[in-house]
Amino acid sequence: MIGPSRTAERVALRRAAHQLLDHPRVHDDPLALVIVGDAQAAALRAEPHRFEDGPVSQRLRAFLAVRSRVAEDTLARAVAAGVRQYVVLGAGLDTFAYRNPYPALRVFEVDNPATQAWKRRRLADAQIAVPDDVTFVALDFASESLPAALRAAGVRGDAAAFFSWLGVTPYLEPANVLATLAAVAPLAAGGGGIVFDYNVPPASLPPASRAAFDGLAARVAAAGEPFRGFFEPDALMAALRDIGFRDVLDLSPDELNARFLSARTDGLRVGSVGHIATALA
Ligand SMILES: C[S@@+](CC[C@H](N)C(=O)[O-])C[C@H]1O[C@@H](n2cnc3c(N)ncnc32)[C@H](O)[C@@H]1O
Repeated sequence: MIGPSRTAERVALRRAAHQLLDHPRVHDDPLALVIVGDAQAAALRAEPHRFEDGPVSQRLRAFLAVRSRVAEDTLARAVAAGVRQYVVLGAGLDTFAYRNPYPALRVFEVDNPATQAWKRRRLADAQIAVPDDVTFVALDFASESLPAALRAAGVRGDAAAFFSWLGVTPYLEPANVLATLAAVAPLAAGGGGIVFDYNVPPASLPPASRAAFDGLAARVAAAGEPFRGFFEPDALMAALRDIGFRDVLDLSPDELNARFLSARTDGLRVGSVGHIATALA
């Protein structure tokens, strides 16, 4: 990836569509339609289904809403337990930092430099104020040291931090993913943790899901951000325990549908590729 992440914009547009299309919302984000800019927001309001091309789109939108919900619900519990530092890894156009309801929580947004610069222009264009408690950290996960960058940005090593890492592991080599998780664990120790999503290997999917996955994989590859990282749930949970996380949980698609989407009448469901992991330290 050389310029700003195109997938970051695509997922932000689907989050904006979620605000308009799905009732009740799984994830309420009053800034989702603001950060995409006036033109995209107007186009979405005029035609909320503009990104829909069948059930695969709907399932992707559901997964994006659910993963933000899991991250922010888990963060809420960490804050209630005393965590005061939140690190959003691969932030893209995530808006939490600009609607942070916790007065004592500092937020660090980490992203590759081009995407972060583009986001900052987006925030300015949309007249979304950047609160004083937000710090931007420009970094490439594949080649730079996360702990060093976070320390330099002011993340305290003597207080637990909570991390989210949404929509990023699929684009990294598995070794980079595990190295980043190992770097996060000591910073999360003492009440923090991480929420991230990941893809299971396509070969383990049923044929219909495999076809849907192949379509998505082709689209992100065409955007210059091919999928690289896949994990088997049991092996990943074991790796997280080995790294030092004390409480790990894998939320499978069935679990996510049961927890967040079961009482709906609109049929909104997540598909079968993406899992969400929570790991507390
Ligand atoms: C699909 S977007 C998700 C963005 C955001 N977390 C969200 O859910 O809207 C992927 C994000 O990962 C970031 N990313 C991908 N590879 C990266 C790398 N090697 N170093 C830093 N950031 C990376 C991209 O810049 C982008 O912001």
